[in-house]
Amino acid sequence: MAKKKHIFLIGFMGVGKSTISSELSRLSKRKEIDTDAQIIKEQKMTIPELFEKKGEAYFRNCETNLLERLKEKEEALIISCGGGMAMRKQNAALMKESGIVVWLTATPETILERVRENQDRPILKGNMNVEFIAELMEQRRKKYEAAADIIVRTDNRTVEEICREIMSQAVND
Ligand code: S3P
Repeated sequence: MAKKKHIFLIGFMGVGKSTISSELSRLSKRKEIDTDAQIIKEQKMTIPELFEKKGEAYFRNCETNLLERLKEKEEALIISCGGGMAMRKQNAALMKESGIVVWLTATPETILERVRENQDRPILKGNMNVEFIAELMEQRRKKYEAAADIIVRTDNRTVEEICREIMSQAVND
């Protein structure tokens, strides 16, 4: 029998990766891993602390290193990725080699609604406006697209609808 593949959830900050991940984990009975949470645990620092004390490049290396380790796991997992994970070509390749990559999308307006009260995202610090979000999203769009096997829209849809679509396309068991 073919080895079951991980499911990687990628996409912009605030697109709903964590929410979708926990519901998918429940439905598929697979364990979930949140790459940000895993890095926080291993590095014993929050994301803003990591960016401030070690720098963004260090954080990006932690992400790549984590993907390399996840690739070796036998058990198929639901993996919720930090919003910048697909920006490195190497990361996109690592994800493709070990799983199915699902790109969750939403409009900049929806994103702003979801992230505006949260202070834990260094990239958005001082940039909590639709214009910044729309521009960064546009800069990143081609890389998300290149990494994705499946694209799933999340605007005005329930968690259940979104998960059903992902399950039907990406869960091979
Ligand atoms: C980032 C997204 C964040 C986190 C870090 C950088 C990004 O994850 O990894 O703040 O560059 O888009 P979420 O998408 O879970 O907010």
